[in-house]
Amino acid sequence: MLELSGVRYQPATAARPVLDDVNLQLQAGRLALVAGPSGGGKTTLLEVISGLAEPERGTIRWNGETLSGRQRRWLCGLVFQFPERHFLGLTVGQELRLGHRRLEAERLERVLERVGLGALSVQQQPERLSGGQQRRLALAVQLLREARVLLLDEPTAGLDWAVRSDVVGLLGDLAKERVVLVVTHEPELFRELEPASWSLREGRLSPMEAGTLRTISANGGRA
Ligand SMILES: Nc1ncnc2c1ncn2[C@@H]1O[C@H](COP(=O)(O)OP(=O)(O)OP(=O)(O)O)[C@@H](O)[C@H]1O
Ligand SMILES: [Mg+2]
Repeated sequence: MLELSGVRYQPATAARPVLDDVNLQLQAGRLALVAGPSGGGKTTLLEVISGLAEPERGTIRWNGETLSGRQRRWLCGLVFQFPERHFLGLTVGQELRLGHRRLEAERLERVLERVGLGALSVQQQPERLSGGQQRRLALAVQLLREARVLLLDEPTAGLDWAVRSDVVGLLGDLAKERVVLVVTHEPELFRELEPASWSLREGRLSPMEAGTLRTISANGGRA
């Protein structure tokens, strides 16, 4: 179990905390979802959990043990909303093989198939893929790493509905075996998975009833 207690994050350049006393428990078996308006702190929450940013207060524990940023970077796989900014490989195959001295072609193909990219050529350049394909490639990279905690930033944004429901189904399956946390503007897309849900507004996290999942508009859903 991943547990955040009293996490506060306020970068020097921010006038007020971006995350304020955040408490959150994440378990394998059920997808976890954080929804909230633009600027509410969703991406920052993923950055803090994954060790890309350090909270100045609070703890982040894994099975009871407090983790350093370095340990969190190891534990967590973060799939960015715009992964093309983070690709290093010149081809899809290279991107997937980074950090793996030996990787059987069969395993690579299985992972690509798992994320719905089975038909893709490994010679393809990552930057030539569509936005949704790039996000799924980034997910494949994290699956190959066998990250115990998967963190996904807006995984359904900009996808057409058929691909969206594939992605939702895949994330539901992955959540059976590991911690999966999705942050999204479109929580209703995940309703069938009955996710454990929270809303994050102005850096404050609060539990949300599954029945109330709905799209949160840019004005904070108060319209
Ligand atoms: N390093 C930083 N310095 C100053 N402000 C920051 C920093 N990082 C984040 N913020 C501020 O924190 C707030 C939350 O940003 P964040 O990107 O986490 O929101 P979000 O919920 O992911 O929004 P969106 O839905 O638009 O992606 C924003 O107001 C942002 O400007
Ligand atoms: Mg964001």
